Amino acid sequence: AKKAVLGPLVGAVDQGTSSTRFLVFNSKTAELLSHHQVEIKQEFPREGWVEQDPKEILQSVYECIEKTCEKLEQLNIDISNIKAIGVSNQRETTVVWDKLTGEPLYNAVVWLDLRTQSTVENLSKRIPGNNNFVKSKTGLPLSTYFSAVKLRWLLDNVRKVQMAVEENRALFGTIDSWLIWSLTGGVNGGVHCTDVTNASRTMLFNIHSLEWDKELCEFFGIPMEILPNVRSSSEIYGLMKISHSLKAGALEGVPISGCLGDQSAALVGQMCFQDGQAKNTYGTGCFLLCNTGHKCVFSEHGLLTTVAYKLGRDKPVYYALEGSVAIAGAVIRWLRDNLGIIKSSEEIEKLAKEVGTSYGCYFVPAFSGLYAPYWEPSARGIICGLTQFTNKCHIAFAALEAVCFQTREILDAMNRDCGIPLSHLQVDGGMTSNKILMQLQADILYIPVVKPSMPETTALGAAMAAGAAEGVGVWSLEPEDLSAVTMERFEPQINAEESEIRYSTWKKAVMKSIGWVT
Ligand code: G3P
Repeated sequence: AKKAVLGPLVGAVDQGTSSTRFLVFNSKTAELLSHHQVEIKQEFPREGWVEQDPKEILQSVYECIEKTCEKLEQLNIDISNIKAIGVSNQRETTVVWDKLTGEPLYNAVVWLDLRTQSTVENLSKRIPGNNNFVKSKTGLPLSTYFSAVKLRWLLDNVRKVQMAVEENRALFGTIDSWLIWSLTGGVNGGVHCTDVTNASRTMLFNIHSLEWDKELCEFFGIPMEILPNVRSSSEIYGLMKISHSLKAGALEGVPISGCLGDQSAALVGQMCFQDGQAKNTYGTGCFLLCNTGHKCVFSEHGLLTTVAYKLGRDKPVYYALEGSVAIAGAVIRWLRDNLGIIKSSEEIEKLAKEVGTSYGCYFVPAFSGLYAPYWEPSARGIICGLTQFTNKCHIAFAALEAVCFQTREILDAMNRDCGIPLSHLQVDGGMTSNKILMQLQADILYIPVVKPSMPETTALGAAMAAGAAEGVGVWSLEPEDLSAVTMERFEPQINAEESEIRYSTWKKAVMKSIGWVT
């Protein structure tokens, strides 16, 4: 049968902490035509350590591309209509590999990993000048969250990494770099690059000059020659070279022309291009970003300053204020994998619906300490307010509420920093298909929550950046190119007083979680 031609299509890899996806969009309407998703293993070799296998991650990307292409064929859609590919990724997660063999030299050290706590403490004692040394250059607090300390740990503890650096064979990258290098040929000429958004999460990147910072590299003891080239978020980095797989081989020669850390990609996918526009994405963690235009705004309330995007080599850079929550969807996975009270993530909604309240139970999932606005590594998870009446449904409900309360904390901080409170919250990400969560979020924030019909905004943003790149030019970034996306709105349904009481009890629970480890 003759294959339907829809006009230019754009593919996007969305490599998150919990899963990998490949999605294909129609660049004229943003309609999602086909996608495939694969869950990624997380290893916890010691308390506080979180690792992933970089080869499994790469393999999952191939598998997703392969399966998505098969589905497109079944839909009679010609794969050769895919004109560009974008990459968005979990940020900060750190990989070092050998450029001669293509082999990773250790597992990827995941952003949630806490092994560098003592490294952070030691470094903070010898910060040159004033305490603002790291923050004023990078917009970030000195924390286990960011790549520089993870890379320091690898250099200090992994012999293979040390040797590869000495022999000039080592390459460092966040997941975007690892994937782009591999997808553009790996040992056969792979391109070693990253974009400004991912670079801005390493703690080695100067967000004002948009370059690797020599002083920071000296401070962390990082050899600059292993760092990737920093490019804009929308330009042709290289061409796909994956001839070994079957259907996906049809993408050989397609430019990879978009690259953004997943939270920046979601900001683009939600079209938050104006100063003051914000979005909140519910993935493994939860990240609220507010576009601050060309200004670097420094928070007084525990938020990060980060590069939002730079959509083209000659285009201006945009910055964002970010409220980062470490554990959102991860708490649902924990209830599934560690407690076994649900078999699939979707079941959480059914349990929560059965009771419609946590019955006074509060769950602070501070598994990796607390991020914004507390930045408290000593916190650990607690479930409190239990009685003999409490059952798994109440705990499920409390887990969902925890995601909403954490968002409320960062929204409050954002409103204080920006001065103008947000009138509604734009949301996206896998968890937003949970209607109870969305209603709870509106109730707890006491403002409307607005979600797009297609929750894969992160991938959409990466596809938009790829399609809009110079030399590709199939996406204009105008609102009419998103005609397939409709919006759903959730209005607050409880009264403000009840909302405040619940929130203040949550804060009491948070205080109990802090200082758990010393
Ligand atoms: O900073 C970490 C973040 O990029 C992870 O995103 O989607 O895996 O929760 P996600």
